[in-house]
Amino acid sequence: MNATLIDGKELSARITEQLKTKVSELQAHGIAPSLSVVLVGDDAASQVYVKNKDKKFKDLGLASEIVRLPKDITEAELLQKIQALNEDPKVKGILVQLPLPSQIEADKVIQAIDPRKDVDGFHEQNAGALMNGQPRVVPCTPLGIMYMLQDQGVNLRGAEAVVVGASNIVGKPIALLLQKAGATVTICNSKTRNLKAHTQRADVLVVAVGKPEMIKGDMIKAGAVVIDVGINRMADGKLKGDVEFESARQVAKAITPVPGGVGPMTIAMLVVNTINASILQSPEADTSLLLKF
Ligand code: GUN
Repeated sequence: MNATLIDGKELSARITEQLKTKVSELQAHGIAPSLSVVLVGDDAASQVYVKNKDKKFKDLGLASEIVRLPKDITEAELLQKIQALNEDPKVKGILVQLPLPSQIEADKVIQAIDPRKDVDGFHEQNAGALMNGQPRVVPCTPLGIMYMLQDQGVNLRGAEAVVVGASNIVGKPIALLLQKAGATVTICNSKTRNLKAHTQRADVLVVAVGKPEMIKGDMIKAGAVVIDVGINRMADGKLKGDVEFESARQVAKAITPVPGGVGPMTIAMLVVNTINASILQSPEADTSLLLKF
């Protein structure tokens, strides 16, 4: 089998067209979505991600700022900055780029963000709502993955879904969304014995670990849909996913490439979350305007 490519770049371009229409509609209602991205330190990968997010917003004519803070900032200083953004009525969305330097407790910072402005969906109020089956703000990468599966016409009811990686950013929320859609979900972690026995059962395999090419073709069920969340920069500067693409595409029915798969979808969903946060913070909070993804 030669797998279909799930083209996240093309799908996100289609979504962007819908977003442009929504942005004009909101303008007519006096709603101006805006994002503040907080970047602490000079992590190379984070710099690239943050720049891509900022560019997407600017391309759509949306207000976006990058708040650059020094890597030796104290936790108290960072919390003060978050408070100022919470209190600024012009700021509708706040995203603190992770990872944070070791002197800062990331969870404390995330919980300090006003949950209505938490466009990452990481605040415990948003994470808890997803856990309870009543999602509010859903983390961007999992939301983008669900949209890709829907666009591919994947039937999740009764499907075996295996998620490799149990992070708060991707693994746990995608598992909850897949479960809500009717899949039987297994979450594997770094302690899982015989990982291959699990991945080989998967009709839908989501890999979000951060280890280049750890999932090989022989670990994948014939006809599976494979979603590769990994973005690993190799010594030669090239990007590789967590899945060995060449061997996997021989076995899978459909697979996301790296780059050009999940990455562009994450950014599109960040715009969706920011637009919806802006609608809910506007005086009318007209829920009929919300984007539904
Ligand atoms: N670092 C890697 N992925 C993400 C993400 O989705 N949100 C934030 N805030 N930081 C990240």
